[in-house]
Amino acid sequence: MGAQRNGGPNYETIFTMEATPLKYGPGASEEAGWELKRMGVKRVMLVSDPGVVKANITGRIQEQIEAEGIEVEVWDRSRVEPTADSFQAAADFAVEGNFDGFVAVGGGSSIDTAKVSDLIATHGGEIIEYVNPPVGGGKKPPGPLKPLLAIPTTSGTGAEATTVAILDIPDQKVKTGISHAYMRPHRGIVDPLLTMTMPSEVTSSCGLDVVCHAAESYLTKPYNERPKAENPDDRPPYQGANPIADMWSAKALEYGGKYLRRAVENGEDVEARGAMMLGASLAGIGFGSAGVHIPHACAYPIAGLKHVYEPPGYPQDHPFVPHGWSVIVTAPAAFRFTYDAMPERHREVAELLSGEKIEDHDENTLPEILIQLMKDVGTPKGVRELGYSEDDIDDLVDGAMKQQRLLVGAPKDVTEEDLANIIRESMENW
Ligand SMILES: [Fe+2]
Repeated sequence: MGAQRNGGPNYETIFTMEATPLKYGPGASEEAGWELKRMGVKRVMLVSDPGVVKANITGRIQEQIEAEGIEVEVWDRSRVEPTADSFQAAADFAVEGNFDGFVAVGGGSSIDTAKVSDLIATHGGEIIEYVNPPVGGGKKPPGPLKPLLAIPTTSGTGAEATTVAILDIPDQKVKTGISHAYMRPHRGIVDPLLTMTMPSEVTSSCGLDVVCHAAESYLTKPYNERPKAENPDDRPPYQGANPIADMWSAKALEYGGKYLRRAVENGEDVEARGAMMLGASLAGIGFGSAGVHIPHACAYPIAGLKHVYEPPGYPQDHPFVPHGWSVIVTAPAAFRFTYDAMPERHREVAELLSGEKIEDHDENTLPEILIQLMKDVGTPKGVRELGYSEDDIDDLVDGAMKQQRLLVGAPKDVTEEDLANIIRESMENW
């Protein structure tokens, strides 16, 4: 198994597996109050966004929590793509509110907003101090945060299972994040009935994000080919491929290949919705341990550099590139590039996604399977359709190079020229 190759005496020998305890199933969100009571909280900040409020999901969950005798204050101003300012506004509310617990009801942005609100309410300080270097100060939270219950209403980010919160820094034209094990929600409730009203474009983007989380984490550099951490505190959340993360990612790949087309085609297909939602959590646990790399590193500048794309199916309040689409567009070229570093594992990913045995394979096998899936679920053709041309490649490469935290996870070294080639090949995937 690729993940068990040993890199030598100066290489890591240890990995950890941490996961959010999850409750899954149609109707599971009705038990939110019961879960919070068990977590010992009395007064919670419920973080949500206007779309989820409008769908009457937030209100229903609020009532269920209040029925357990827990006080609830709702913050419903999470943005689809959070910025430092939108995080700050929520964090101010959290500090003033004197809460002893947090609940997030929404997509990844609401869950991330809750993570950051919890961080600042628990430990104080400025948000930028905690943001990953070189953009921010890279400060580590000094201790655990207050309890956070995450209830996703989209099936994509896996934010209920991960240790990161992603934000846009508009003045630096960059997207980055805060990542630390303490940022992981304490519990998650995954209820497929909450995604039933999600438009097909959102299902497509979220589902392809899941597929990329799983594929990238399966195809990342194994933990024991990475430099040994000086001490446990220095071991990064993204540790590299390992046998336990592989299991979670493999299952998510299987679900993505089997159910995403169905969930996009018919939003009321509960089985497909459920599998994609569960897949998002499975992949979240897998990539939360192993990490993602080139497609996600390229996605940050693709989403952050220009804001001209007006995505169909999303709220039309501001142009932006949906996260899953910003990631998937460079995935075929990225995996064509990484193929020779671990050909067998690329074959395994191709088999898991296609559900078929693959005997003969080369660098195009996995990219072709991904491109077929992209076509079937109505993805933009490539980077150009999202508003970029060849003239932007240098800037996109600069932005991706800033994501060294992710790029170190690629199974082979990635130069600026390699990234430029990947982005150029990704202008049109077909
Ligand atoms: Fe992602």
